[in-house]
Amino acid sequence: MRGLKVKAISKSSNNVEIVSEVTATFLPGCITALIGPNGAGKTTLFHLITGELQPDHGDIFYKDEKITGLPPYRIARKGIGRLFQDVRIFDNMTVLENVLAACLTPEQESPFFSFFHPAKWHACRKHNLDKALYWLNFVGLQDKRDQSASSLSFGQQKLLAIARLLAGEFNVLLLDEPTAGLNPVMIKKVLDILERIIAEDREKTVVLVEHNMKVVTEMAYWVYFMNEGRIAFFGRTDHVLGDKEVREIYLGL
Ligand SMILES: Nc1ncnc2c1ncn2[C@@H]1O[C@H](COP(=O)(O)OP(=O)(O)O)[C@@H](O)[C@H]1O
Ligand SMILES: [Mg+2]
Repeated sequence: MRGLKVKAISKSSNNVEIVSEVTATFLPGCITALIGPNGAGKTTLFHLITGELQPDHGDIFYKDEKITGLPPYRIARKGIGRLFQDVRIFDNMTVLENVLAACLTPEQESPFFSFFHPAKWHACRKHNLDKALYWLNFVGLQDKRDQSASSLSFGQQKLLAIARLLAGEFNVLLLDEPTAGLNPVMIKKVLDILERIIAEDREKTVVLVEHNMKVVTEMAYWVYFMNEGRIAFFGRTDHVLGDKEVREIYLGL
Protein backbone atom coordinates (compact mmCIF):
# COMPACT_ATOMS: atom_id res chain seq x y z
CA MET A 1 0.00 0.00 0.00
CA ARG A 2 1.57 3.27 -1.13
CA GLY A 3 -0.46 5.76 0.84
CA LEU A 4 -1.55 6.58 4.34
CA LYS A 5 -3.97 4.35 6.18
CA VAL A 6 -5.74 4.80 9.49
CA LYS A 7 -7.28 1.65 10.88
CA ALA A 8 -10.12 1.76 13.42
CA ILE A 9 -8.67 4.69 15.36
CA SER A 10 -10.53 6.19 18.26
CA LYS A 11 -9.87 9.07 20.61
CA SER A 12 -11.82 10.20 23.63
CA SER A 13 -11.57 13.38 25.63
CA ASN A 14 -13.39 13.62 28.99
CA ASN A 15 -15.22 10.38 28.22
CA VAL A 16 -16.57 11.78 24.98
CA GLU A 17 -15.44 9.98 21.86
CA ILE A 18 -14.19 12.64 19.45
CA VAL A 19 -12.92 10.20 16.82
CA SER A 20 -14.67 6.82 16.70
CA GLU A 21 -13.38 3.76 14.88
CA VAL A 22 -12.23 5.74 11.88
CA THR A 23 -10.81 3.68 9.06
CA ALA A 24 -9.63 5.50 5.95
CA THR A 25 -7.06 5.21 3.19
CA PHE A 26 -5.47 8.20 1.51
CA LEU A 27 -3.83 7.38 -1.81
CA PRO A 28 -1.09 9.25 -3.67
CA GLY A 29 -1.69 10.94 -6.98
CA CYS A 30 -5.04 12.46 -6.12
CA ILE A 31 -6.77 14.72 -3.65
CA THR A 32 -9.00 13.16 -1.01
CA ALA A 33 -11.42 15.51 0.70
CA LEU A 34 -12.40 15.18 4.32
CA ILE A 35 -15.70 16.95 4.88
CA GLY A 36 -18.30 17.22 7.61
CA PRO A 37 -19.85 19.73 10.00
CA ASN A 38 -17.86 21.70 12.58
CA GLY A 39 -16.93 19.52 15.51
CA ALA A 40 -17.05 16.32 13.42
CA GLY A 41 -13.47 15.45 14.41
CA LYS A 42 -11.58 16.32 11.21
CA THR A 43 -8.87 18.40 12.85
CA THR A 44 -8.56 15.83 15.65
CA LEU A 45 -8.02 13.12 13.03
CA PHE A 46 -5.13 15.21 11.62
CA HIS A 47 -3.69 15.58 15.17
CA LEU A 48 -3.81 11.80 15.52
CA ILE A 49 -2.07 11.20 12.19
CA THR A 50 0.72 13.69 12.91
CA GLY A 51 1.32 12.33 16.42
CA GLU A 52 0.25 15.46 18.30
CA LEU A 53 -2.42 13.25 19.86
CA GLN A 54 -2.19 9.53 20.50
CA PRO A 55 -5.15 7.33 19.59
CA ASP A 56 -6.75 5.29 22.38
CA HIS A 57 -7.27 2.43 19.94
CA GLY A 58 -6.32 1.62 16.39
CA ASP A 59 -3.29 2.09 14.20
CA ILE A 60 -1.85 4.37 11.58
CA PHE A 61 0.26 3.08 8.70
CA TYR A 62 2.30 4.93 6.14
CA LYS A 63 3.56 2.86 3.23
CA ASP A 64 2.70 -0.24 5.27
CA GLU A 65 4.89 0.89 8.17
CA LYS A 66 3.14 1.31 11.48
CA ILE A 67 3.68 4.87 12.74
CA THR A 68 1.25 4.81 15.67
CA GLY A 69 2.79 6.25 18.82
CA LEU A 70 5.79 7.91 17.16
CA PRO A 71 6.49 11.49 18.30
CA PRO A 72 5.47 14.26 15.88
CA TYR A 73 9.01 15.04 14.67
CA ARG A 74 9.56 11.41 13.65
CA ILE A 75 6.26 11.26 11.82
CA ALA A 76 7.20 14.50 10.04
CA ARG A 77 10.52 12.94 9.00
CA LYS A 78 8.63 10.03 7.46
CA GLY A 79 7.21 12.63 5.07
CA ILE A 80 3.90 13.57 6.63
CA GLY A 81 3.35 17.31 6.76
CA ARG A 82 0.48 19.48 7.74
CA LEU A 83 -0.96 22.90 7.01
CA PHE A 84 -2.58 24.26 10.14
CA GLN A 85 -6.03 25.82 10.24
CA ASP A 86 -4.42 28.95 11.69
CA VAL A 87 -1.50 30.33 9.69
CA ARG A 88 1.83 29.49 11.32
CA ILE A 89 4.74 31.49 9.98
CA PHE A 90 7.57 33.48 11.53
CA ASP A 91 6.32 37.08 11.60
CA ASN A 92 9.72 38.57 12.42
CA MET A 93 11.48 36.98 9.43
CA THR A 94 11.34 37.82 5.76
CA VAL A 95 9.30 35.80 3.33
CA LEU A 96 12.44 34.13 1.94
CA GLU A 97 13.84 33.39 5.41
CA ASN A 98 10.56 31.70 6.30
CA VAL A 99 10.91 29.30 3.40
CA LEU A 100 14.64 28.82 3.97
CA ALA A 101 13.95 27.79 7.55
CA ALA A 102 11.61 25.10 6.24
CA CYS A 103 14.33 23.77 3.90
CA LEU A 104 16.72 22.86 6.70
CA THR A 105 17.27 19.15 7.27
CA PRO A 106 17.71 17.95 10.88
CA GLU A 107 21.47 17.64 10.21
CA GLN A 108 21.69 21.22 8.96
CA GLU A 109 19.77 22.50 11.97
CA SER A 110 22.57 21.35 14.27
CA PRO A 111 24.78 24.27 15.39
CA PHE A 112 27.84 22.05 14.86
CA PHE A 113 27.13 21.39 11.22
CA SER A 114 28.53 24.69 9.83
CA PHE A 115 31.52 24.45 12.15
CA PHE A 116 32.62 20.91 11.33
CA HIS A 117 31.55 20.80 7.68
CA PRO A 118 32.10 24.32 6.28
CA ALA A 119 32.33 23.26 2.62
CA LYS A 120 29.27 21.08 2.84
CA TRP A 121 27.49 23.90 4.69
CA HIS A 122 28.10 26.33 1.82
CA ALA A 123 26.88 23.81 -0.73
CA CYS A 124 23.74 23.20 1.34
CA ARG A 125 23.10 26.92 1.66
CA LYS A 126 23.20 27.34 -2.10
CA HIS A 127 20.98 24.30 -2.58
CA ASN A 128 18.49 25.54 0.02
CA LEU A 129 18.39 29.00 -1.49
CA ASP A 130 17.59 27.53 -4.91
CA LYS A 131 14.94 25.34 -3.34
CA ALA A 132 13.38 28.19 -1.36
CA LEU A 133 13.23 30.41 -4.43
CA TYR A 134 11.70 27.57 -6.44
CA TRP A 135 8.83 27.16 -3.95
CA LEU A 136 8.34 30.92 -3.54
CA ASN A 137 8.00 31.09 -7.28
CA PHE A 138 5.67 28.08 -7.24
CA VAL A 139 3.20 29.89 -4.96
CA GLY A 140 3.73 33.26 -6.70
CA LEU A 141 5.42 35.13 -3.84
CA GLN A 142 8.82 35.63 -5.47
CA ASP A 143 8.32 39.42 -5.64
CA LYS A 144 7.75 39.56 -1.87
CA ARG A 145 10.87 37.61 -0.92
CA ASP A 146 12.57 40.39 1.04
CA GLN A 147 9.48 41.74 2.76
CA SER A 148 8.72 40.93 6.35
CA ALA A 149 6.23 38.06 6.59
CA SER A 150 4.06 40.20 8.85
CA SER A 151 3.58 42.72 6.03
CA LEU A 152 1.77 40.14 3.88
CA SER A 153 -2.01 39.99 3.59
CA PHE A 154 -3.76 37.04 5.25
CA GLY A 155 -4.08 35.30 1.90
CA GLN A 156 -0.41 35.82 1.08
CA GLN A 157 0.54 34.48 4.52
CA LYS A 158 -1.44 31.36 3.69
CA LEU A 159 0.51 31.02 0.43
CA LEU A 160 3.72 31.42 2.41
CA ALA A 161 2.65 28.68 4.83
CA ILE A 162 2.00 26.46 1.79
CA ALA A 163 5.45 27.30 0.36
CA ARG A 164 7.00 26.31 3.70
CA LEU A 165 5.11 23.04 3.67
CA LEU A 166 6.24 22.29 0.12
CA ALA A 167 9.85 23.19 0.92
CA GLY A 168 9.72 20.56 3.65
CA GLU A 169 9.37 17.97 0.85
CA PHE A 170 6.60 16.05 2.57
CA ASN A 171 4.93 13.29 0.61
CA VAL A 172 1.69 13.49 2.51
CA LEU A 173 0.08 16.90 2.81
CA LEU A 174 -2.69 17.28 5.36
CA LEU A 175 -4.40 20.56 4.59
CA ASP A 176 -6.83 21.87 7.21
CA GLU A 177 -9.19 24.33 5.52
CA PRO A 178 -6.55 25.98 3.31
CA THR A 179 -9.15 28.19 1.63
CA ALA A 180 -10.96 29.36 4.80
CA GLY A 181 -11.15 33.12 5.09
CA LEU A 182 -9.66 33.75 1.65
CA ASN A 183 -11.17 35.90 -1.05
CA PRO A 184 -12.10 34.27 -4.38
CA VAL A 185 -8.88 35.38 -6.10
CA MET A 186 -6.76 33.80 -3.35
CA ILE A 187 -8.91 30.65 -3.28
CA LYS A 188 -8.24 30.23 -6.99
CA LYS A 189 -4.51 30.60 -6.37
CA VAL A 190 -4.54 27.95 -3.65
CA LEU A 191 -6.52 25.53 -5.83
CA ASP A 192 -4.19 26.12 -8.75
CA ILE A 193 -1.23 25.32 -6.46
CA LEU A 194 -2.90 22.09 -5.30
CA GLU A 195 -3.53 21.02 -8.88
CA ARG A 196 0.10 21.65 -9.79
CA ILE A 197 1.36 19.74 -6.74
CA ILE A 198 -0.50 16.61 -7.85
CA ALA A 199 0.32 17.08 -11.55
CA GLU A 200 4.05 17.50 -10.94
CA ASP A 201 4.50 14.70 -8.42
CA ARG A 202 2.17 11.71 -8.60
CA GLU A 203 3.65 10.38 -5.36
CA LYS A 204 2.11 13.17 -3.33
CA THR A 205 -0.88 12.30 -1.17
CA VAL A 206 -3.14 15.26 -0.47
CA VAL A 207 -5.89 15.27 2.16
CA LEU A 208 -8.05 18.36 2.07
CA VAL A 209 -10.45 19.50 4.79
CA GLU A 210 -12.84 21.80 2.98
CA HIS A 211 -16.26 23.30 3.61
CA ASN A 212 -16.90 24.66 0.14
CA MET A 213 -18.59 21.86 -1.82
CA LYS A 214 -17.82 23.56 -5.12
CA VAL A 215 -14.12 23.30 -4.27
CA VAL A 216 -14.55 19.66 -3.20
CA THR A 217 -16.31 18.83 -6.47
CA GLU A 218 -13.61 20.51 -8.52
CA MET A 219 -10.59 19.18 -6.67
CA ALA A 220 -11.22 15.88 -4.94
CA TYR A 221 -11.48 12.43 -6.45
CA TRP A 222 -12.40 10.71 -3.17
CA VAL A 223 -14.47 12.03 -0.29
CA TYR A 224 -14.75 10.95 3.32
CA PHE A 225 -17.72 12.45 5.07
CA MET A 226 -17.23 12.64 8.83
CA ASN A 227 -19.98 13.21 11.36
CA GLU A 228 -19.82 12.97 15.16
CA GLY A 229 -16.40 11.34 15.04
CA ARG A 230 -17.31 8.67 12.51
CA ILE A 231 -16.96 8.22 8.79
CA ALA A 232 -20.58 8.44 7.68
CA PHE A 233 -19.93 8.16 3.94
CA PHE A 234 -17.03 7.39 1.67
CA GLY A 235 -16.74 7.20 -2.07
CA ARG A 236 -16.01 9.02 -5.26
CA THR A 237 -16.84 12.69 -4.94
CA ASP A 238 -19.71 12.62 -7.44
CA HIS A 239 -21.28 9.66 -5.63
CA VAL A 240 -20.99 11.06 -2.11
CA LEU A 241 -22.09 14.58 -2.98
CA GLY A 242 -24.84 13.18 -5.21
CA ASP A 243 -26.23 10.99 -2.43
CA LYS A 244 -29.74 12.03 -1.40
CA GLU A 245 -29.11 11.57 2.33
CA VAL A 246 -25.82 13.47 2.28
CA ARG A 247 -27.42 16.32 0.38
CA GLU A 248 -30.60 16.61 2.43
CA ILE A 249 -29.46 15.85 5.95
CA TYR A 250 -25.85 17.01 6.00
CA LEU A 251 -25.41 19.60 3.31
CA GLY A 252 -28.91 21.09 3.49
CA LEU A 253 -29.21 21.19 -0.28
N1 LIG B 1 -8.41 20.13 22.98
C1 LIG B 1 -9.65 19.63 23.05
N2 LIG B 1 -10.15 19.17 24.22
C2 LIG B 1 -11.40 18.70 24.30
N3 LIG B 1 -12.24 18.63 23.26
C3 LIG B 1 -11.80 19.05 22.07
C4 LIG B 1 -10.49 19.58 21.89
N4 LIG B 1 -10.35 19.92 20.59
C5 LIG B 1 -11.50 19.63 20.01
N5 LIG B 1 -12.38 19.11 20.88
C6 LIG B 1 -13.74 18.66 20.59
O1 LIG B 1 -13.61 17.60 19.67
C7 LIG B 1 -14.64 17.62 18.71
C8 LIG B 1 -14.03 17.60 17.33
O2 LIG B 1 -13.31 18.80 17.08
P1 LIG B 1 -12.46 19.03 15.77
O3 LIG B 1 -11.62 17.84 15.54
O4 LIG B 1 -11.80 20.34 15.93
O5 LIG B 1 -13.60 19.09 14.67
P2 LIG B 1 -13.59 19.68 13.19
O6 LIG B 1 -12.18 19.96 12.79
O7 LIG B 1 -14.25 18.62 12.37
O8 LIG B 1 -14.43 20.92 13.24
C9 LIG B 1 -15.46 18.85 19.01
O9 LIG B 1 -16.63 18.45 19.68
C10 LIG B 1 -14.57 19.69 19.90
O10 LIG B 1 -15.35 20.42 20.82
MG1 LIG C 1 -11.26 21.71 12.21
